[in-house]
Amino acid sequence: MKKFVKVLALALVLVLSVSMLAACDGGTSTSGTSNADSGTKVLKIGTNAEFPPFEFMGDDGQPDGFDIALIKAIGEEIGMEVQIENMEFKSLIGAIESGNIQGIIAGMTVDDERKKSVDFSDGYYEAHQMVLVRKDSDITKTEDLNGKKIAVQEGTTGDFVASGDPDWEFILGVSLQNTEVSRMKKGLDAVIELKNGRVDAVIIDSNPAQVFAEENADDIKIVDSIQCETETYAIAVSKDEPDLLNSINTALKTLKDNGKYDEILKQYIEQ
Ligand code: ARG
Repeated sequence: MKKFVKVLALALVLVLSVSMLAACDGGTSTSGTSNADSGTKVLKIGTNAEFPPFEFMGDDGQPDGFDIALIKAIGEEIGMEVQIENMEFKSLIGAIESGNIQGIIAGMTVDDERKKSVDFSDGYYEAHQMVLVRKDSDITKTEDLNGKKIAVQEGTTGDFVASGDPDWEFILGVSLQNTEVSRMKKGLDAVIELKNGRVDAVIIDSNPAQVFAEENADDIKIVDSIQCETETYAIAVSKDEPDLLNSINTALKTLKDNGKYDEILKQYIEQ
């Protein structure tokens, strides 16, 4: 009996110390967003580093690009340490909803459907879709894309346009008909499909289109005669973090006013 009491007492001490430890931990890291060493709050941002020059894998194996530099500058403004989480583009919104990240910077276009799941900051860049074809292609106008095989990066606005989504009709002025869409994980994979002759065209955002066209100038070209409407890139923020959204907007404005935004633009885009 005495032994039983002893074991019981020991167990109680153990349980108490474990819960005290847990309580201490909870005190220093508010919902896992605080860096215990420095006390600086961590801002977890998702991206898909397959979208040059906005985001790509740098030589050091870390995501680099315009968006990465911009969000780091925003982090500095608002006193948070930015931690980049690289993932598939189509997983980004879900990662906010499940609380794994607080925001997204990924050349993401503001869209009503996405607005149901996330909030968007003020716009930080204007872009548009471009159509890439093989050099010998006779596709010159929007109608030529009907019934064609088109490769895109899955879940992007290029995907919506290629698929004839009526919400995205404004981009080309018409909804494409009877297209066969190959949805790739990476924009570059879509370009490879085109080069290898497995598809007739790629629809992708203007800046990566230019990068891919330059890198593969012997095989592919941009169809200059197909012009698309403008879309706006913004930072997506969790609907649970309205204060963060405000801070990001204020920081964006500061960076535009003090020239830092232009500096980053020159470094990555307008070289
Ligand atoms: N602007 C397009 C969209 O919002 C494409 C973005 C792709 N971004 C990326 N990092 N892969 O759907």
